[in-house]
Amino acid sequence: MSQDPRSDVPVPEAVVARFQALLDQARQAEIPEPSAMSLATVSPAGAPSVRTVLLKSWSACGIDFYTNLNSCKARHLEAHPQAAVCFYWGPLWRQVLMEGGVERQSDRESDAYWETRPRDHQLGAWSSSQSQPLSSRDFLESEYRRYELFFEGRPIPRPPYWGGFHLHPTLIEFWSGQAGRLHERDRYTVVEGRWTHQLYFP
Ligand SMILES: Cc1cc2nc3c(=O)[nH]c(=O)nc-3n(C[C@H](O)[C@H](O)[C@H](O)COP(=O)(O)O)c2cc1C
Repeated sequence: MSQDPRSDVPVPEAVVARFQALLDQARQAEIPEPSAMSLATVSPAGAPSVRTVLLKSWSACGIDFYTNLNSCKARHLEAHPQAAVCFYWGPLWRQVLMEGGVERQSDRESDAYWETRPRDHQLGAWSSSQSQPLSSRDFLESEYRRYELFFEGRPIPRPPYWGGFHLHPTLIEFWSGQAGRLHERDRYTVVEGRWTHQLYFP
């Protein structure tokens, strides 16, 4: 039986806790960017594409990340609202994969996160036409200064082209490096509306 491509069945609490424990371990181990994940999308023409983004929140409903809504990845997600992510924490010898359907956050959710961002990150978002060709580094820096002056002394609103995406996993795999290449793969998938658990050969 195959995995359901889209589902809103909540992730079991034990699996949420297992992932949370790994994130906590990665933070305690002072791994740089412990919440960085490779995000794979599919272009409108069907070509794969991958880049790093930061996981910003995580619950039984799934994971959230934020980006420019005109970026390549956002256009891919509009055409194919499914994605795969991969976390790899080298010093822990652990990997976690997730796959599932993706949807845009509501404006209210994106606003709530936007307001928690440091001011320089907010200015960075206004200054960058992410994924577009850039004529020079100087131009990017002058755009930053232009917005800095423009918003001086007042709160910076969320750009209309910036927001969050939510991935609702239908597959979560925990990989643990072991001696002799006998690694462990522990896979949870939604099949016919229920989370199931299965070990896999490494
Ligand atoms: C550690 C790290 C974290 C990043 N986090 C984000 C992020 O949260 N959101 C984002 O849009 N880009 C982030 N980026 C930049 C992306 O990897 C990518 O260059 C950018 O989003 C443009 O991707 P695209 O043209 O495929 O849409 C991050 C890069 C690195 C190396």
